[in-house]
Amino acid sequence: CLSLAPLSNAFVPSGKLIELVDITLPLMVNTLPYPFNEEIKGISTDSGVPLGEVVLFNIFYEVFTVCTSIVAEDNKGNLVHGRNLDFGLFLGWDVKNKSWTISEKLKPLVVNLDFKRKNQTVFKSTNFAGYVGMLTGIKPHTFTLTMNERFSLDGGYIGILEWIMGQRDGMWMSFLTRSVLENANSYEEAKKHLAQTKMLAPAYFILGGNQTQQGCIITRSREIDLKLGRWYVLETNYDHWEEPFFLDDRRTPAMKCMNQTTQANMSLKTMYDVLSTKPVLNKLTTYTTLMQVSEGKLESYIRDCPDPCMPW
Ligand SMILES: *[C@@H]1O[C@H](CO)[C@@H](O)[C@H](O)[C@H]1NC(C)=O
Ligand SMILES: *[C@@H]1O[C@H](CO)[C@@H](O)[C@H](O)[C@H]1NC(C)=O
Ligand SMILES: *[C@@H]1O[C@H](CO)[C@@H](O)[C@H](O)[C@H]1NC(C)=O
Ligand SMILES: *[C@@H]1O[C@H](CO)[C@@H](O)[C@H](O)[C@H]1NC(C)=O
Ligand SMILES: *[C@@H]1O[C@H](CO)[C@@H](O)[C@H](O)[C@H]1NC(C)=O
Repeated sequence: CLSLAPLSNAFVPSGKLIELVDITLPLMVNTLPYPFNEEIKGISTDSGVPLGEVVLFNIFYEVFTVCTSIVAEDNKGNLVHGRNLDFGLFLGWDVKNKSWTISEKLKPLVVNLDFKRKNQTVFKSTNFAGYVGMLTGIKPHTFTLTMNERFSLDGGYIGILEWIMGQRDGMWMSFLTRSVLENANSYEEAKKHLAQTKMLAPAYFILGGNQTQQGCIITRSREIDLKLGRWYVLETNYDHWEEPFFLDDRRTPAMKCMNQTTQANMSLKTMYDVLSTKPVLNKLTTYTTLMQVSEGKLESYIRDCPDPCMPW
C-alpha cells in the first residue's frame, strides 16, 4: 500500500544511473548478508519496484544521512534519548517550495516498527518503509541506539565503492545497528559489538543504557560523566574535538539549548523542544524520535520546518 516509485524516480534522475540500477545493483543484492538480501528481494517483489531501485534506496541511507542525536540523564537517573533524522542533502533543492525533494518524499514513508519474537516485542524502531537497516531504535528497558553519518574524506563513499567493486570485508553500518538491537541483551554488550565490528564507512553510534551514566558515543567512547557535570552526550556529524564545518554547526545551538534546559528539567518534552530549535531542526529534518528506555517508549514525529529555516 506504500509506493516507493516516486522516490526512486527522484533518486535516479534522467536515466543516468539506469545501467547501474538495471544491471549492477540487482546482482549486488546477493552479496548482502542474510536476512537483508532476502528482505530487499521481498520488498521489490511485493511493491513492484525494480530490485535495483530498492537496493539503491537502501544504499543511499548509508551515505546521505545527517542528524543530531542526544542522550541525556535527568536528575532522577532517567535516560532520555532524542534524535532528528535529516536526510536528502544534495539530492535536489526545490527552489519554489524551498524544500529538499527527497526529504519531502520520505515523510510519508516514516513508520514506527515493532519487531516481535513469539509475540513479544524484542525491539522497536522508527524507519522508512522499504529500508531494511536501522537508524533509530530501542530495546525496551535495556538500551536505546541511534546512528549518525560521520563525514570524512577517506570514509563514506570509499567503503561502499569497495563493496560494489568486490572487496567485502566490512559490515553495512545500519545492518550492524539492527543486528545489535536484535541480539545484544545489555548496554555493555551493545557497546562492545558496536565498537569492535569493522564497518564499511565511518559512523557514530549514540547509545543509551538503562542505568545512570550509561550514555556514550561510540567510536570515541565519550561518556556521560556526572562528576564532571556532563549529564548529556550529543553528536551531529563531526568529530567532537574538531570544530564543526562552519556552514553546518548544529552542535553549538543544540548544546546551548541543552545547557539552558538544565538537567533538572530534562524530559521527553524538553528534549523535543531542543530538537525543534533551528538549525537543529532544518529543511532536511524528516522525523524526530524520542525514546525513554525505562518505559520502553518510542514516539516519532514527522517534521516540517517553517520559513525562515536553514536548508541544513
Ligand atoms: C511544491 O509546491 C507545490 C505547490 O505549492 C505542490 O503542489 C507540490 O506538491 C510541492 N512539492 C513538494 C515536493 O512538496
Ligand atoms: C499477541 O499479543 C497480543 C497483545 O499483545 C494479543 O492480542 C494477541 O492475541 C497475541 N497473539 C497470539 C497469537 O498470541
Ligand atoms: C538493565 O539491563 C540489564 C541487562 O539487560 C538488566 O539485567 C536489568 O534488569 C535492566 N534494568 C532495568 C532497571 O530495567
Ligand atoms: C554547555 O555546557 C558545557 C558544560 O558546562 C560547556 O562545556 C559548553 O561550553 C556549554 N556550551 C554552550 C554552547 O553553551
Ligand atoms: C523548569 O521547569 C519549570 C516548570 O516548567 C519552570 O518553572 C522552571 O523555570 C524551569 N527551570 C529552568 C532552570 O529552566
